[in-house]
Amino acid sequence: MPGITLGDTVPNLAVKTTHDNFKLHDYFADSWTVLFSHPGDFTPVCTTELGAMGKYAHEFQKRGVKLLGLSCDDIQSHKEWIKDIEAFTPGSKVTYPIIADPNKEIIPQLNMIDPIENGPSRALHIVGPDSKIKLSFLYPSTTGRNMDEVLRALDSLLLASKHQNKIATPVNWKPDEPVVISPSVPDEEAKKLFPEGFKTADLPSKKGYMRLADVF
Ligand code: BEZ
Repeated sequence: MPGITLGDTVPNLAVKTTHDNFKLHDYFADSWTVLFSHPGDFTPVCTTELGAMGKYAHEFQKRGVKLLGLSCDDIQSHKEWIKDIEAFTPGSKVTYPIIADPNKEIIPQLNMIDPIENGPSRALHIVGPDSKIKLSFLYPSTTGRNMDEVLRALDSLLLASKHQNKIATPVNWKPDEPVVISPSVPDEEAKKLFPEGFKTADLPSKKGYMRLADVF
């Protein structure tokens, strides 16, 4: 993915949205944000994705995380489209702002481009309160995203951040399941960090790197 990526600061662009106009860093300040792009309004996959985000909005809110959509059409079009989105996904309310990008000027600056199509993609950046990208997904326009995976990945990021990245989450991890202790943490430090203990898997290599702990 050429352009801004993990660890980079999202440019502080002035954007127009279905709610109000603001600079991105003002929106990102003080919380995490899920910023997700769409190729265009009144398209079927995008309609299902924005509807799903509307249905999951309370889950993001519970975690203190903001949502921010972007689609490559203007505000008037977005407002008309929201009626379709909510009608197609019962129970969905599009309570989050959607950025207007009718001339496709913003989307390349946010590195939300499909390099094969040379056009807008289904990209998603999880942005920290420091306006830096913590995670990115890049899907082509033909593949709708999985909102359960967005939430799961977000929960992993929030937990790792809470523990200063001294823990990591293993394959298919879900909240309340054991985490692993990061390889950079020596056993002595791990004992202090996890006074209730951790388990080291007995593996053929005897290297002791697979250390599992419960964190809450
Ligand atoms: C869609 O949202 O359905 C879509 C958008 C662009 C290309 C293909 C599908």
